[in-house]
Amino acid sequence: MNLLAQIKEKAQKNLQRIVLPESYEERTLRAADIALAEGLAKIILIGNPEKIQNLAAQWDLTNISKASVVDPEKNPKTDVYADMMVEIRKGKGLTKDQALSLLMNPLYLATVMIKSGDADGEVAGADNATGDVLRPAFQYVKTMPGISVVSGAFLMFLKDKEFGNDGLMVFADCAVHPNPTAKELAEIAVSTGKTTRVIAGIEPRIAMLSFSTKGSAKHEMADKVIEATKLAQQMDPTLKIDGELQADAAIIPAIGQKKAPGSDIAGRANVLVFPTLETGNIAYKLVERLGHAQAIGPILQGMAAPINDLSRGCSVSDIVNLIAITSNQAAGK
Ligand code: ACO
Repeated sequence: MNLLAQIKEKAQKNLQRIVLPESYEERTLRAADIALAEGLAKIILIGNPEKIQNLAAQWDLTNISKASVVDPEKNPKTDVYADMMVEIRKGKGLTKDQALSLLMNPLYLATVMIKSGDADGEVAGADNATGDVLRPAFQYVKTMPGISVVSGAFLMFLKDKEFGNDGLMVFADCAVHPNPTAKELAEIAVSTGKTTRVIAGIEPRIAMLSFSTKGSAKHEMADKVIEATKLAQQMDPTLKIDGELQADAAIIPAIGQKKAPGSDIAGRANVLVFPTLETGNIAYKLVERLGHAQAIGPILQGMAAPINDLSRGCSVSDIVNLIAITSNQAAGK
């Protein structure tokens, strides 16, 4: 069975409550209909129930009636949620009126539902920019203990099965944090190790990438990666991790042996952690386009509960896949 089929099967066996705040968006509602038909999750739609039913009828979606619908305008929990928001953001001076107004925004309501334990995970972003999806999540769901930074990983299914585990590799951070410090980069490595175990279902062998291998170049940017490697090892001693490594030393056995003799990661990495968002985002897109790899993600990691951001160019099946992945993350918490 391929990995996506396994992810879907796991989701079906342990149904999680996944909230979709963009329920008027056609691809999202179509994906919700498929997820309900396939029994991938308990779907919660945010919006006006009548409008959702009308759209479902217009698009001939017969499973939408199985979803729960939360109407921001008539939500019995609005007052409780607003008090909770004021408490969480008291240091930032949030007033109750401001909280009540934010709760009319489905992206805020979804994250507050998760914080309150009324949903297990969220998928959004078919209709909204990354920052608009992530900001409410950063503010109300926040990061998991021991992690201060959210990042985004991609499962890369490569044509060439020699690399990673039968062609599967995990790349991060390709989506969120532009210029991590050494400590933040260490957290990204630890979070990516967890994603690799929980979602990819393989034991991570993490390469911390740089333009230098084991001191071949002297530069503060390489020093950051060396420091991050040490910190990540301290944060999770169970992780197999090495750095700093150049990309070729990380994935080509002969080059790994030559440039980093004695390393049990060099030449056989299945996880690549990039030093900056620029490098990670450019690398995954080039591997996807020039190398004809399938890239699944970004899978957001480091958040206290799973919230995943779609690309606005996503397809219906991308959304269905991300609903199943989010369910696996929620179940693996
Ligand atoms: N992890 C955890 N919390 C964060 C993070 C993070 N990575 N970044 C910001 N925050 C928190 C801040 O601490 C702050 O919290 P506070 O309000 O409690 O003080 C809050 O989020 C807002 O912080 P800002 O610095 O104002 O962040 P902003 O909202 O401007 O930006 C964003 C955050 C949107 C994620 C920004 O870092 C960004 O634009 N990143 C790049 C995203 C992107 O364009 N990716 C590439 C495209 S995706 C793709 O190709 C797949």
